[in-house]
Amino acid sequence: MNQRYVLVVDDEPHMRRVLEIMLRKAGHLVFVAGNGREALEVLRDNPVDLVITDMRMPKMDGIELLTRLRQDGVEIPVIVITAHGSVESAVNAMKLGASDYVLRPFDIDALELAIARVLNEAEVVRQNSFMREELNRGWDAFVGTSAAMRTVYELIRQVAPTKASVMITGETGTGKELAARAIHNASPRSSKLFVPINCAAIPVDILEAELFGYEKGAFTGAVKERVGKFELANEGTIFLDELTEMPMALQAKLLRVLQENTLERLGSNRQIKLDIRVIAASNRTPRESIRDGHLREDLYYRLNVFAVDLPLLRERKEDIPDLASHFIAKHSHHIDGDAALSAAIVSRLQAYNWPGNVRELENMVERALILCGTGALKPEHFPLDLDRSGTSPVLLASNTVSVGPLVPAVEELEARMIEEALAQTEGSKPKAAALLDISERTLWYKLKKHLPKAND
Ligand SMILES: Nc1ncnc2c1ncn2[C@@H]1O[C@H](COP(=O)(O)OP(=O)(O)OP(=O)(O)O)[C@@H](O)[C@H]1O
Ligand SMILES: [Mg+2]
Repeated sequence: MNQRYVLVVDDEPHMRRVLEIMLRKAGHLVFVAGNGREALEVLRDNPVDLVITDMRMPKMDGIELLTRLRQDGVEIPVIVITAHGSVESAVNAMKLGASDYVLRPFDIDALELAIARVLNEAEVVRQNSFMREELNRGWDAFVGTSAAMRTVYELIRQVAPTKASVMITGETGTGKELAARAIHNASPRSSKLFVPINCAAIPVDILEAELFGYEKGAFTGAVKERVGKFELANEGTIFLDELTEMPMALQAKLLRVLQENTLERLGSNRQIKLDIRVIAASNRTPRESIRDGHLREDLYYRLNVFAVDLPLLRERKEDIPDLASHFIAKHSHHIDGDAALSAAIVSRLQAYNWPGNVRELENMVERALILCGTGALKPEHFPLDLDRSGTSPVLLASNTVSVGPLVPAVEELEARMIEEALAQTEGSKPKAAALLDISERTLWYKLKKHLPKAND
């Protein structure tokens, strides 16, 4: 593990000492403080990566320390240590923005695990904090003014104030998580937690415990009770990412929890009332997943109260200049070169097919900024495999072109290709869209533009 700066806050000198020794052994640099007020002083003058704090302390307790930090916009991860039997206060701390909690008396393993998890997540949070700032300002997080994106914004605006479940679909990197956070942030639940859980990233055998929590002794290894993601998300929003990766048996249990609005932790029969907004996402087509046995149909109907389908980047290439500029601004804090987009770069970016969608564009921009160093951004800083995905075979069919105004020529080609596709498929829009490798919705827009009568 990398060496980190850890601040231990506890009023008992013995506890401080134990933690200090343990953390030193793990290779970290340790600061100590006897209460929240002292902790704030240490934090003012030192680079701290992680705070581990006791809850009950004189002068300023753990909750107040946490509240102060988050109010001041300090995003340092905080692990709270709390007495056994006061899980309530641990949950409270989590709601205030603590990263994790450990119940006292704790075993070193549990704490080490929490530290490893939190420090790992901290990296992700750092990357996300830019996004969070953006989201707090409202809609700025989404970039793009194409018709396809405007439809998405409108859907989000409509569904956000309700409690309706939402199913977000879209290829990888199209912005599903961004959309889920936007819905939460624009909802009346925005002051409560948004709890994402990636069903593909969590080992199948612990997914159920992560979702629903457990009591001490519920299974081998459950040495302490643990609050599940659903309980944490209570009154807020849970984001079930990659839903189709959840085992079918667990999907059945999930459906039951959603229908009854109550859950029981594993190893307990105490019923916990839930008031949760559920947003699910998948980069596979739900219909196909149902057919292939990866998604329960009844669960799908329960979740698909409202559907948001995110457009592919290659179907809204007009958004590429804005997106690229946005990512330059987002990632150029560590460079001082002239990071402007030239027309040559834009046309290179627009010639590419972007199988990884917006995320691929973002990565490409970040990489280009590193490559260009302190110089100006040039097309060669964007090494895109244009041969594989760029020029379409249609254009290669005729090898003579004349030069003239580009836009009307492209529009005309587009209209002719759509007409041709519709002719070949005897007017079937789904088949024509498939031939053109665009979504049906995009085809619908384009038809409206080129052949206004065709949509009636
Ligand atoms: N319209 C957009 N405007 C600005 N940034 C965007 C937009 N769409 C996506 N992004 C950014 O692209 C990255 C990928 O988005 P996100 O994680 O939401 O995609 P995803 O659909 O969940 O992908 P995956 O299926 O791979 O999990 C994020 O950094 C996100 O902020
Ligand atoms: Mg995602």
